[in-house]
Amino acid sequence: MKRFACIVGARPNFMKMAPILHAFAEHTDGQPVLIHTGQHYDRNLSDVFFDELDIPRPHVSLGVGSGTHGEQTGRLIIELEKTFLAARERQEPFDRVVVVGDVNSTVAAALAAVKLQIPVAHVEAGLRSFDRRMPEEANRLVTDTLSDLLLVSEESGVDNLRREGHPDDRIRLVGNVMIDTLRRHVRRAAERSILADLRLESGCYAVVTLHRPSNVDDPAVLRALTEVLIDVARSVPIVFPVHPRTRERLKTFGLLAELEDAAGVVLLEPLGYLDFLALTSQSKVIVTDSGGLQEESTALEIPCLTMRENTERPVTVTEGTSTLVGTDAEQLRSHLQSVLDGTYKRGRCPDLWDGQAAGRIVRELLAAT
Ligand code: UD1
Repeated sequence: MKRFACIVGARPNFMKMAPILHAFAEHTDGQPVLIHTGQHYDRNLSDVFFDELDIPRPHVSLGVGSGTHGEQTGRLIIELEKTFLAARERQEPFDRVVVVGDVNSTVAAALAAVKLQIPVAHVEAGLRSFDRRMPEEANRLVTDTLSDLLLVSEESGVDNLRREGHPDDRIRLVGNVMIDTLRRHVRRAAERSILADLRLESGCYAVVTLHRPSNVDDPAVLRALTEVLIDVARSVPIVFPVHPRTRERLKTFGLLAELEDAAGVVLLEPLGYLDFLALTSQSKVIVTDSGGLQEESTALEIPCLTMRENTERPVTVTEGTSTLVGTDAEQLRSHLQSVLDGTYKRGRCPDLWDGQAAGRIVRELLAAT
């Protein structure tokens, strides 16, 4: 029986790993061992996803927590290496490490594994924003360089990997595993009471999320975005579950009260998976800087105005419902208007975003290991 160390750490990892863990149950020759680094530790950024997505309790929890990038990544590597070595000492070595996405836990696990000669598979390989200022871009580049099995969610990822010289026999286009989770839960989400609780009418509000360092760490940018959101709320009510780092910045820059008091703005704590999906799947429009949400809105066929200058997920723009609006208030306003007028573009769901990606991933993992 082959043993796979499956690494999760931060919120966007949980919905990607859940279907992979479930798909292992169809096979008798592979055992997933779940390791939670504890990069995210708040209940509503972590535990709630385990409950709602039926993720088994982690075999190992490392409790690494927050810090600067260097501190956090360093602690992650130290703790993950100990875990991999301990398994080896118990005569239960890992045959492969499986990492998802682009967070610090992803790159740390890849680095700890290859130094111990454990092969690494990267789910969501090949995505590139070509913006090296993003911490996630560094994580993607390094993780792909270290991985010998590159499991890709969209065609652009295959092109990027080839261009970087990765051989074809390492690359597999398997589709988007996060959409497996979305398709599995979207009906259950619609039964939640959150719309009624917030007195929202289906199809008549916007969902906003914002947490990228490039948008929230600079006071001038965050002030401009806050003003845009207050302006948007004059046309359509907005619901904004606030990421802890964003709340902290809003407070520090003296913008929180302004946003809280604005007409048509509802600020919430970060939500669990089902409540959030209930909100997004019934919204008129999504305004976000999240990578995952660009993909989810494309799968849901809901317009997505992406507050970034670039995206590592170009298919969400070329085929899907997303438009890059940067931090430009005018752009946002004009696209919002076209959503409200009903003239905004329609999208289509990319190939292999069909709810079956996890099955393909696990078959590739077993074949390659
Ligand atoms: C991380 C990922 C980002 C992902 C995001 C989703 C990296 C480099 N970034 O960013 O790609 O889109 O997760 O949420 O890995 N905090 C809490 N509670 C927690 C965790 C964090 O309050 O459970 C606060 C702390 O103040 C912390 C800050 O959020 O310093 C940032 O957390 P961190 O894990 O460094 O990165 P995220 O911004 O969450």
